[in-house]
Amino acid sequence: MCGIVAYIGNKQAQPIVIKGLKRLEYRGYDSTGISIYNGSALHTLKTKGKVSDLEALIAQHPEQKATLALGHTRWATHGVPNDTNAHPQTSNSGNLVVVHNGIIENYASLKKELIHRGFTFSSDTDTEVLVNLIEDVQQQQGVKLGQAVQIALSQVIGAYAIVVFDRRKPNELVAARLGSPLAIGIGENEFFVASDATPFIEYTKEAIYLEEEHLAIIRVGKSIKIRKIKDDSLAEPYVEKLQMSLENIQKGGYDHFMLKEIFEQPKAIQDTLRGRLLSDEGVITLSSLREHDNRFLNAKRILIVACGTSWHAGLVAEYLLEDFTRIPVEVEYASEFRYRNPIIYPDDVVIAISQSGETADTIAAINIAKEKGAFIYGICNVVGSTISRITDTGCYTHAGPEIGVASTKAFTTQITVISLIGLYLGKANGTLSRSQYQEYLTELSTLPTKVEQILASQTFIEEVATSFKTAQNCIYLGRGYNFPVALEGALKLKEISYIHAEGYPAAEMKHGPIALIDKEMPVVVIATKKGYYDKVVSNIQEIKSREGRIIAIVSEGDTQVKALADYCLEIPDASEPFIPILSTIPLQLLSYYIAVQRGCNVDQPRNLAKSVTVE
Ligand code: AGP
Ligand code: GLU
Repeated sequence: MCGIVAYIGNKQAQPIVIKGLKRLEYRGYDSTGISIYNGSALHTLKTKGKVSDLEALIAQHPEQKATLALGHTRWATHGVPNDTNAHPQTSNSGNLVVVHNGIIENYASLKKELIHRGFTFSSDTDTEVLVNLIEDVQQQQGVKLGQAVQIALSQVIGAYAIVVFDRRKPNELVAARLGSPLAIGIGENEFFVASDATPFIEYTKEAIYLEEEHLAIIRVGKSIKIRKIKDDSLAEPYVEKLQMSLENIQKGGYDHFMLKEIFEQPKAIQDTLRGRLLSDEGVITLSSLREHDNRFLNAKRILIVACGTSWHAGLVAEYLLEDFTRIPVEVEYASEFRYRNPIIYPDDVVIAISQSGETADTIAAINIAKEKGAFIYGICNVVGSTISRITDTGCYTHAGPEIGVASTKAFTTQITVISLIGLYLGKANGTLSRSQYQEYLTELSTLPTKVEQILASQTFIEEVATSFKTAQNCIYLGRGYNFPVALEGALKLKEISYIHAEGYPAAEMKHGPIALIDKEMPVVVIATKKGYYDKVVSNIQEIKSREGRIIAIVSEGDTQVKALADYCLEIPDASEPFIPILSTIPLQLLSYYIAVQRGCNVDQPRNLAKSVTVE
């Protein structure tokens, strides 16, 4: 994710764009920049950091009068956050500047071809490839900017929302999107282009939300032309009257960032797979693995260090990686690992999982493992974060900024990366047959759609939450791959609704916890038709016979558990290793709605911080 703001019209552009970027910082904030055109020259200022850092940089330069500007606040995917990798990105000639939200999957092959044609690159971004591809089309085919963008984008694989400016055509902006949002504000002789409407809602309530694979040619004093990228044919613009408030827009129309992020999971999983899972070709491309697969394949064991939700993802990784690769896996709380003088061998591989990449306990655990010679692989969501820099290599989850303190899309995208790693290694060391590998690969690509299906049951889950909002305690049960999901569901409930909740392996009930069961004790049981289904049904019967109230997560079409449980939340069937990504979704929604109905501060629960950067 990132924030894009562009302005062309009759007002001073720079203050409009800067203010707009601040409203979009929730979409990304690791680096930022602005290009302005003052009627004769194009000036670009960029910096690592936040928009306030850009303002400080601007203040060091002579004030410019400009009625055209493009700005960007970045959430890096390719190239660490620094001044050079910040946007706008400029073409070799200096004529073109682009701001981009998204991922160009085939940037490497495009870059190779452009270098062959004499282009040079100063940044590590995929975006700089795009701006030079557009320039190359202009130079080779002598077409106008709009058509050059359309031709260039037809060669691109990936997701983008872009705004392009050519200093030789100063009365025009070209915008285009596929997979990332773009809104065009229509004012009196002025236009705004932004990732959402918050940067321009105080100037105009008329907006065009650019449709998928559409391109807009925006000229002051003329009406907007909309074209289809696929065939350059004209499309009819649809102008909307905006009703939403500023705050409401930043949350994408959702009441809380947590709910928005729960619903972003199909796209977050898709973006995490993008450019890495080529299911038709049966290929997983993970350079961080390809360059070091011997370290994994020769490892006697894999250690996983993490905290909180990331630790739960590590537990799922234990089941999945041992299943797929037969390499022993041990999962450790980073906070325990760092102090217990752990035994670590030089041929150990340590995987550190962290959404923020800044968790103090996990950083400390990594440093101990490094001192003892282990190979460290990081799975982070923040490009350029501390953990991503101190590990030997790693893989980013492309979940976009996670604002809600309760981690949701980070968890499912962490498991997505772990699935890619398990499949890659399982195929490499032959522990997965080719047919099993291909089946799993194909199934992995269907998970975003299955998550969408589960999200559609949001209203029913909200109703179920009503029956449990006054609970004082809750038990979560799961077996096998679903045991870590039971722990994660319990953590979600306790951290946002303040209801005490505990997760257990379902079979553990008879070793003590069953003493807690009575009609006041809700029990959430993950009873999907996988693994030990019959044994979980027996656990449910034991709870039922003690008047426990049961919410069951079941596979679509289940009848046996339906006859026993008080409420059943259905999820689509999937192979067991992929069930956690699905079974966690109803638990996220359940905890969200219970917390909302209890009047809790869902996005910023009491006593909690989004990133625990201290011990
Ligand atoms: C999860 O909902 C919590 N917010 C918390 O447990 C979090 O997962 C933990 O602090 C680890 O954070 P990290 O993934 O950024 O390292
Ligand atoms: N992929 C581009 C980059 O890494 C854009 C990232 C974003 O959407 O902010 O610079």
